[in-house]
Amino acid sequence: MNQKSSVHCRICDTPIEAFMSFGRMPIANGFLTAEEVSEEYFFELAPAFCGNCGMFQLIEQPQPDKMFHGHYAFYSSTSRFMQLHFENFANSVMKDVLAGRADPFVVELGSNDGIMLRHFNDRGIRHLGIEPSVNVADVARRHGIHTISSFFSPALAEDIVAEHGKADAILAANVMCHIADLRGIAAGVQRLLKPDGVLIFEDPYLGDMIAKTSYDQIYDEHVFIFSASSVKRAFDPYDLELADVMPQITHGGSMRYLLAPKGSRPASPRVHAQLEKERSQGLQEAETYLRFRQNCEASRARLMQTLEELRAQDKRVVGYGATSKSTTVTNYCGVTPAHVEFISDTTPIKQGKLSPGAHIPVRPYIEFTRQYPDYALLFAWNHAAEIRDKEKAFVAAGGKWIVYVPEVKVFS
Ligand code: TYD
Repeated sequence: MNQKSSVHCRICDTPIEAFMSFGRMPIANGFLTAEEVSEEYFFELAPAFCGNCGMFQLIEQPQPDKMFHGHYAFYSSTSRFMQLHFENFANSVMKDVLAGRADPFVVELGSNDGIMLRHFNDRGIRHLGIEPSVNVADVARRHGIHTISSFFSPALAEDIVAEHGKADAILAANVMCHIADLRGIAAGVQRLLKPDGVLIFEDPYLGDMIAKTSYDQIYDEHVFIFSASSVKRAFDPYDLELADVMPQITHGGSMRYLLAPKGSRPASPRVHAQLEKERSQGLQEAETYLRFRQNCEASRARLMQTLEELRAQDKRVVGYGATSKSTTVTNYCGVTPAHVEFISDTTPIKQGKLSPGAHIPVRPYIEFTRQYPDYALLFAWNHAAEIRDKEKAFVAAGGKWIVYVPEVKVFS
C-alpha cells in the first residue's frame, strides 16, 4: 500500500488525499535557540478535505507532546482584546446556560492560563480546567483556578464524573481543532455532560479561511479547520447535535458552536442558515480547495515580490508579532532574516529566540519602538485594529504596514 492510499479521514475513515502541500514545516510555536537549530523537528504540512464528511484536516500531525509541553510558548492573556473576548464568552455562558441552575459545574478543555475560567472562579462557580501544557496551567493555578495538567480523554471524563459529578457546560476555545482524536474527545464529552448540559467551543472558521485566503491558519496545532457542516457530522455519532452557531471576529474569523444531547434543546434557525451559506460558498466541493491552493500560491508570489523589492531598496522590514501562524507564512513563502530583520513580540518566552524554520530573531517590543523600521510586516494581522490603534507613532514617523490577508497590501 502506498502512503497516499493509507491515509484516512480522522472522522469517518474515508480515504483522503492532500490537495496541496505547504512543504517541510517546523512546529509553529517551536521558537528555538541557535544551539537547538541542528535538532529542529520538521514534518510535511499538507491539508486534505474529506469528500464524504466534509472535514478539512491535516494529513500528518506531529505527536502532541512535540507541541504542548512544559514550555509551550502561547499564553492566551497577551492580548487585551482576547481578555475581553473571553470575559464576554464566560458572561454569556453564565447568563444563557448556568442561570437558575443549582451549584453548576463548568469544565474547560485547554484552559491555558485561565483567561476564561477566572471569571467563573470570581463568581464562586465550580470549575475545572484541563490543560496539558504545565507552564501555562501553573499560571492558572497561581490565580486559584482548579486545573488538571492532562490530555482530555473518555477515561479522564469518567474520573472527573466520579470526583465532581457531570458538567453543565463544557467549554473550549481554540482547542478542539488541535485534537487529532476528536472522536475520543466527543466520546469523553458524551460521558461528562449532563443530559441538559451543553458543549460550547470556538475555533478558526473554514468559511473565513477560504474567503480570505488566510492559509496561515493551517499549521501543526490546527489538525482540523471546522465548518458548521463538518462539526455537525463529527459529533452526530456521539448523540450530540449542533444547536447553535455564533460567528466571532477573533483569529481572523472564528465560529462558536453550541452542541447538546440530541432532543434536549431546539436548534436555532442560525444553524440551518449557516449550513445553507456553506453550501453556496462551495465548502463541500473539491474545486473550492483547488482554487484556494491557487490563491495561496498567488499570495506567496506577491508577498515575496514585495519583500524582494524592499530588500533591493535597502529598506528595513521588521515582523510584528511572532504568531504561530506566521511560521506557515515564513516557511511556505521563503521569508528569511535577509527580508525581515527581526520579529517584535511582547511574549517574554519567545524573545531572544529564533522563529521556527525561518530562524528570524525574535526581539522585545522595545526594539521596535527604539528605532522604527521603514516597514512592519503584520504577522499578527488578526489583531490589526488593536495594533494600528496602538502604533500611530510608527505611522506618524513614516512607517508603513505590510499585510497579506485578505491580500498583500502596503499601507500607512
Ligand atoms: P495570536 O494572535 O494569538 O496568534 P497565533 O494564534 O497565530 O499565535 O498571537 C499573538 C502574538 O502576537 C503573541 O506572540 C503576542 C504578539 N503580539 C504582540 O507582540 N503585540 C501586540 O500588540 C499583540 C496584540 C500581539
